[in-house]
Amino acid sequence: GSGSQAGGEETVAPAVETPASRTVTILYGSETGNSQMLAEQLADKTNELNRTTTVSAMDDFKPKKLKEVEDLLIITATHGEGDPPDNAIQFHEFLHSRKAPKLNDVKFAVLSLGDESYDHFCQTGKDFDKRLEELGAERIKPRIDCDVDFDEPAAEWMDGVVEELKQDQPTPSVASASSNQDVPADQPVYTRSNPFAAEVLDNILLSGQGSEKETRHIELSLEGSNLSYEPGDCLAIYPKNDPKLVQQIIDKLDWDAEQSIPINKQGEIRSVQEALTSIFEITRLTKSSIEKAQSYFANDELDALISDAEKVKDYIDGRDLLDLITDYPPNHLKADNIMDFLRKIPARQYSIASSYQANPDEVHLTIATVRYHSYGRDRDGVCSGEIADRIEPGDQVNVYVHKNPNFKFPLDEETPVIMVGPGTGVAPFRGYLEEREELELEGKTWLFFGDQHFRTDFLYQVDWQNWLNSGVLSKMDVAFSRDNKEKVYVQNRMQERSKEIYDWLKQGAHFYVCGDEKRMAKDVHQTLLDIIEEEGNLSASEAEAYLNQLKQEKRYQRDVY
Ligand code: 2AM
Repeated sequence: GSGSQAGGEETVAPAVETPASRTVTILYGSETGNSQMLAEQLADKTNELNRTTTVSAMDDFKPKKLKEVEDLLIITATHGEGDPPDNAIQFHEFLHSRKAPKLNDVKFAVLSLGDESYDHFCQTGKDFDKRLEELGAERIKPRIDCDVDFDEPAAEWMDGVVEELKQDQPTPSVASASSNQDVPADQPVYTRSNPFAAEVLDNILLSGQGSEKETRHIELSLEGSNLSYEPGDCLAIYPKNDPKLVQQIIDKLDWDAEQSIPINKQGEIRSVQEALTSIFEITRLTKSSIEKAQSYFANDELDALISDAEKVKDYIDGRDLLDLITDYPPNHLKADNIMDFLRKIPARQYSIASSYQANPDEVHLTIATVRYHSYGRDRDGVCSGEIADRIEPGDQVNVYVHKNPNFKFPLDEETPVIMVGPGTGVAPFRGYLEEREELELEGKTWLFFGDQHFRTDFLYQVDWQNWLNSGVLSKMDVAFSRDNKEKVYVQNRMQERSKEIYDWLKQGAHFYVCGDEKRMAKDVHQTLLDIIEEEGNLSASEAEAYLNQLKQEKRYQRDVY
């Protein structure tokens, strides 16, 4: 998901004062929370060095304060087409404007997060790195551009930065008495790098017979995990590749499925079978993975492809490792080489559809199965396909909770809440309403839901009905797009209720959108602007300023994908 401003400014003072040591400012631009998470980890480390450290989202940092900055550490994601994340836009703009001060006394380092399958990989991090140098700052560590499996390189970079800062200490470092964030020693902490094996409790097809969609409701057990979550958070799942695809690749390459191969620089080993099933991504190719594989393939036709960036881009779209080894048979590729060019399987994130308060030992998800046909084969989404076809109650899946600071709901009775969630976008609103029910909150809530057909796609119909009866949900509008000749979408329903929506906003309502980014969220955004313009008698630019203000106040939040 994406969102607006992340977390407030937070200063963590070290317990022992070392005079004259330079302060550390960590700024993050976070799209889904990963940069924020890394920024906080880095702050823990600099605090241990006894450095006064400030961590904040870039847009919560006052540009005026740049003049006082000493050591500046930047961690940032990049939005789709190379743009900064929402909470970095203003800072990015300021720094690149003529107003930016000279930074001759500043030392800096940049870590960028991205996804190599995008053209503008890590662009925002590159921008900052270049600009800080232009402004006269001294780079203390080369920038690192991390792909989706960023854990190892990011940890290495952070340790390197901490080493640099250590070298730079004015006085011999005093043994630090700080860092009191003890975790009970007997309880493992389940995270991205140490996921919890959650038992599947239920796996139900929600969409009815005849639906063009295949949407499932999954219930997982979190018992014994000590994991908790809030409405709006996501659950990340590490999927396993389809064993049929793994077998086809092994057969085609004439490899031995049982052979042990290294899977990381630490020298851990797995069987070929296990590595291709659970460790490495085989369903999606990236430009960089093909380039890294080039020497092992030693295939002239592949060399020709790689020499043309546009052709590579077209080729990888919709193809997987089996296509690559079929179209460009490798000449020297050994199973041992896998880790040199394939990336680790990234976890897939799903908005949580349940309330922790109501089910502390469970987490529920709403997952639409992705199935498509490309280049002569039927293919499935790695995670949604696994869940639909290969996961039964009693099986386990590896998960962790991904906090989403940019999608948070009020839990009081005064703030009205409007929610727009067509399709699986309705998931977090089910979690939120369940939480309100559990906490016995009264107050105004309004849900807009849409999908193709009333008869087959009215997800969680019984839940909404119950909550409407009990008052947990005050209002609901639905838009079934394919039941009539004319298409109707959630934004058409919003338009019909424009006066009331504007009244709710005037009463301080929060407005939430979850689901498809490119079409739905874009149109809903425009409709909201239209409503504000019409009902508030504002100009288009005033309506935009009004909505920006809502965003600033965290009253307009989106989780779109
Ligand atoms: P459609 O597929 O019939 O066009 C959930 O997927 C619902 O979102 C479906 O009813 C789908 O309608 C609808 N949808 C598609 N494009 C949309 C858009 N631009 N705005 C809002 N809803 C849209």
